[in-house]
Amino acid sequence: MVEEVLVGLNCRPARVYVDGTVGEGGHAAAILERCAPDGRLWGLDKDPVVLETAAARLAPYTSRFHLFHSSYARLGEILKEEGVPAVAGIVLDLGLSLHQLQRSGRGFSFQGDEPLDMRFDPLRPGKTAADLLNSATPAALEKIFKEYGEEPRARRFARLVVAARRQQPFRFTQQLVTLVQQAQGPGRRRGERHPATRVFQALRIAVNREIEELAVFLGEAPAWLEPGGRLVVISYHSLEDRLVKQRLLAWEKAGLMRRLTRKPLIPTVEEVRRNPRARSAKLRVAEKVEN
Ligand SMILES: C[S@@+](CC[C@H](N)C(=O)[O-])C[C@H]1O[C@@H](n2cnc3c(N)ncnc32)[C@H](O)[C@@H]1O
Repeated sequence: MVEEVLVGLNCRPARVYVDGTVGEGGHAAAILERCAPDGRLWGLDKDPVVLETAAARLAPYTSRFHLFHSSYARLGEILKEEGVPAVAGIVLDLGLSLHQLQRSGRGFSFQGDEPLDMRFDPLRPGKTAADLLNSATPAALEKIFKEYGEEPRARRFARLVVAARRQQPFRFTQQLVTLVQQAQGPGRRRGERHPATRVFQALRIAVNREIEELAVFLGEAPAWLEPGGRLVVISYHSLEDRLVKQRLLAWEKAGLMRRLTRKPLIPTVEEVRRNPRARSAKLRVAEKVEN
């Protein structure tokens, strides 16, 4: 949804834009093109590996971009350190990148057999997916599978995880895939997603505290925008989209921001055909009210 992001941000020259989830720099490169010749872009990401890819991709824009190894929830501290009071636009494209899914070796995908890590930032100490599976209470696991995975068999899976870890602690992705497949039983309807999809998504959201970080960001974002500045958020999960939707409405009622999308924008059929992972994307835009 690159064009929707560019229009949503109202990209213009001589302004600073923030891509809070820069990933491999796809949106960032498009923003730099659109705000040429002197618009600048700050890209943030928790993952130091994808930042290296972004740095290589954005190299042609030399002095017009700056990358930060940071959570977008810490944008306020970065603005302070850089001496910039506010920016013209912020975009968040939540979730994980294709690189992380396919090539990180950190267990985001259930296709191969990789260590169950799932941290976006492996340099920071923090619980991995294996740590969570091996130590969380059954109630906590059920909550994770239910809330973050919208998994109808959350309680059953939680019990099975606890029984399995008594035999052998979780270390690799295929241990979890096998457990989910056994719990699911044989057969899967045509078009139905792999039964491990929801469980893997749930663990990733829990490991990276994705909902909490988004809530922190949304608590402060209007203060980081200049009057007329734009916020664009693309979410892929109903919990995230609900948070964004409610915040945008609350800001509008408080006279802080104006919603520019009453209903979220969704990808075209052609875009989903090209990139099936985009099928659940919802994009919302708001503008900071002029003083
Ligand atoms: C869907 S990808 C972004 C892709 C990017 N828009 C592009 O065009 O290449 C999401 C990225 O957000 C990053 N991420 C997730 N949570 C984050 C957070 N709290 N702060 C910073 N980056 C985060 C992930 O590491 C991942 O690289």
